[in-house]
Amino acid sequence: MAQPIYLDYNGTTPHALEVIEAMRPFLEQEFGNPSSSHWYGIAPKQAVEKARRQVAGLLNCRPEEIVFTSGGTESNNHAIKGIAQSRRELGKHIITSNIEHPAVLEVCRALAEDGVKTTYVPVDRDGLVDPAEVEKAIRPGTILISIMHSNNEVGTLQPITEISTIARRHGITMHTDAAQSVGKVEVDVRALGIDLLSVAGHKLYAPKGVGALYIRQGVQPAKFCHGAGQERGWRAGTENVLEIVGLGKACEIAKRDLDGHISHMRNLRDRLHRGLLETLGNGVALNGHLEKRLPNTLSLAFRGLAANRILEEIGLEIAASPGAACHSDMVTISHVLEAMGIDREWAMGTLRFSVGRMTTADQIERAITVVTAAIRKLRG
Ligand SMILES: Cc1ncc(COP(=O)(O)O)c(C=O)c1O
Repeated sequence: MAQPIYLDYNGTTPHALEVIEAMRPFLEQEFGNPSSSHWYGIAPKQAVEKARRQVAGLLNCRPEEIVFTSGGTESNNHAIKGIAQSRRELGKHIITSNIEHPAVLEVCRALAEDGVKTTYVPVDRDGLVDPAEVEKAIRPGTILISIMHSNNEVGTLQPITEISTIARRHGITMHTDAAQSVGKVEVDVRALGIDLLSVAGHKLYAPKGVGALYIRQGVQPAKFCHGAGQERGWRAGTENVLEIVGLGKACEIAKRDLDGHISHMRNLRDRLHRGLLETLGNGVALNGHLEKRLPNTLSLAFRGLAANRILEEIGLEIAASPGAACHSDMVTISHVLEAMGIDREWAMGTLRFSVGRMTTADQIERAITVVTAAIRKLRG
């Protein structure tokens, strides 16, 4: 049986062929420890430093400002817990939004046990944070603002530069979770004016289990992992050379081909959107901002239907993600759609389609046919 058409690139991405080729020598031959001073350590050490330059090249920072991690979750943990600890003498208050990924929300929740308070700023119907709301939430003792660069469910892109300008004016450290953005849109840490930025390798055609944290020179989150002195002391533990090489290559490709990738993804995403609107008419609505949005993300609400039921209908042919989960007749709507104030009868029937570099026009035409048939059938 043919595999379903993959429309879940925000969930994860396949490895780019060039990434696989770049990693191959480190799987097959170059097993050395980059910390070794003998011959075997030379190539792995050089490869890790090359990857650091590749990541820095994509993000427009210095290689020394990049720390390799195990992924987006660890990068967020390091940034938020690290600043909460290193700046604790200055205060115990964090500002974030209520549509963050659990890799931010749960960190803030965990920090509450240490007396760190968090303010969750609201978003509007499009999923946008208002910078004025962030400024309003600042109080004596605010040490960190963490607002995601783009949302994983609806793709809305946040006004990070405006928020970081506010943060700087108040002497507050600014972090952004860019796990979904890197490789899909331009992410320039200098232009964004931020202090810390999280990257997740598997969202940009590198392996799962590798990521990076940008730490602006002079910013001092507490160490994440104690041990030997790898990653200039920020993160102890022998480097994941294989995957770091993969991440480096993925960043090089993202920088080289970004414009082409953006127009490819946007064309296919918009064709899927138009196609479904044309065939289904009323009862279909976009979640997220029409323009300020990742070019690959299409979160669609099908009024009055249950996301799980739609996925059951299309699952043999299409892989997409639900915006609501149904467990024994109880429908749980995603915290993102809830925060955006999407009506229940729409939110419960929300699917996220996310296209990628490998998506083809034929796949999109087939997806329009399959989804249309499923929705018509469920509508009776
Ligand atoms: C916005 C966002 N942040 C963080 C993460 C977690 O990244 P990782 O899977 O690399 O730990 C994800 C993954 O879905 C994400 O979408």
